[in-house]
Amino acid sequence: MGKQQILLLGATGETGGSILNALLADIEAFNVVALVRPSSIQKAQVQELIERGVEIRVADIEGPLDDVVKVLAGINVVISAIDGLGQLAQLSLATAAKQAGIKRFVPCAFTIVAPPGGVMYIRDTKEEVYRHIQRLYLPYTIIDVGFWHQLSFPNLPSGRVDYAVVMTETTEIHADGRMPTMLTDLRDIGPFVARIIKDPRTLNKFVVTYSDVLSENEIFGLMEEMSGEVIHRKYVSGNEIIDSRARHQATLKMEPDNRPVRFVSMKEDYIYSKYVRGDNTPEYAAYLGYLDARELYPDFRPRSFKDFIAELLEGKAVKPYPTLDIAALYQEA
Ligand SMILES: NC(=O)c1ccc[n+]([C@@H]2O[C@H](COP(=O)([O-])OP(=O)(O)OC[C@H]3O[C@@H](n4cnc5c(N)ncnc54)[C@H](OP(=O)(O)O)[C@@H]3O)[C@@H](O)[C@H]2O)c1
Repeated sequence: MGKQQILLLGATGETGGSILNALLADIEAFNVVALVRPSSIQKAQVQELIERGVEIRVADIEGPLDDVVKVLAGINVVISAIDGLGQLAQLSLATAAKQAGIKRFVPCAFTIVAPPGGVMYIRDTKEEVYRHIQRLYLPYTIIDVGFWHQLSFPNLPSGRVDYAVVMTETTEIHADGRMPTMLTDLRDIGPFVARIIKDPRTLNKFVVTYSDVLSENEIFGLMEEMSGEVIHRKYVSGNEIIDSRARHQATLKMEPDNRPVRFVSMKEDYIYSKYVRGDNTPEYAAYLGYLDARELYPDFRPRSFKDFIAELLEGKAVKPYPTLDIAALYQEA
């Protein structure tokens, strides 16, 4: 088989960056083109892509369809790693991909395993894209990854891991902390994706990746054992999670464009799905029909959560979204 021509949307982002690194590392198999929106062409990150030898194609995916079809000339596989709130912009990209004869469309999933229909707003917007793809009869692969290692550790009293913390309230234990949840290191999303898109078994399938399945109690225990510190836990009950989620959802019904409340509500959806319902497990993924990437690629050993914690404690972890002020996003909620 010749090289696959890949068009990657989101190469300057966190998930897309992980995918880009893995595709560039396999030059025998892939040639990567980055799709960049017109408003971002001058960004330093786009210049870095050019310096790494990545071909840039510029298009507004919500602009005229013919222009998007043209941008897909010569491409076999489209991968989208668009940000959480941008999901529906992929609808016209999928339509264009069908017209361009794309052999595999990988829409932006890359989230936790959860059912469609009212559990997670973000999942439901992604599902809208998946249903559009299926109506088009466009070949696809949906890849979910559990929760990132980089977002799954608590703060320590000494402050020694603060440098890598993205989220606020990291010492909360939800609904007794016993629900197991799948975790993947952000850096391993790319290597998994590179294997999955070469594999005919994953065409028109859902696939899930993970390195570990751990509960919050196990994660906190591991952090304490490896750091020698005692974490002050803040317990949040299942009912408190359900009530707060319902309050924010009611606000969004009246104010759907309220961004701070949307961010809080999306975070609460994750908490509700992972820790109250317990959706993000290999067993539930199998029930929903996902293939298990660990079974498909037994040769690939993803970074364990324990190894990630060791790096974190050595001061060597890299904080995702280095310029994002997450507290400001939640400010008015
Ligand atoms: N599993 C987890 O723990 C977890 C955690 C976080 C996110 N996620 C999932 O991962 C997905 C990707 O999120 P992320 O946080 O990795 O993304 P991100 O870092 O915010 O990056 C988004 C990328 O999409 C690009 N983009 C946005 N709109 C575009 C458009 N209209 N045309 C072209 N490019 C566009 C951005 O380019 P610019 O340079 O132009 O801005 C950027 O490269 C999300 O959908 C979310 O569901 C999962």
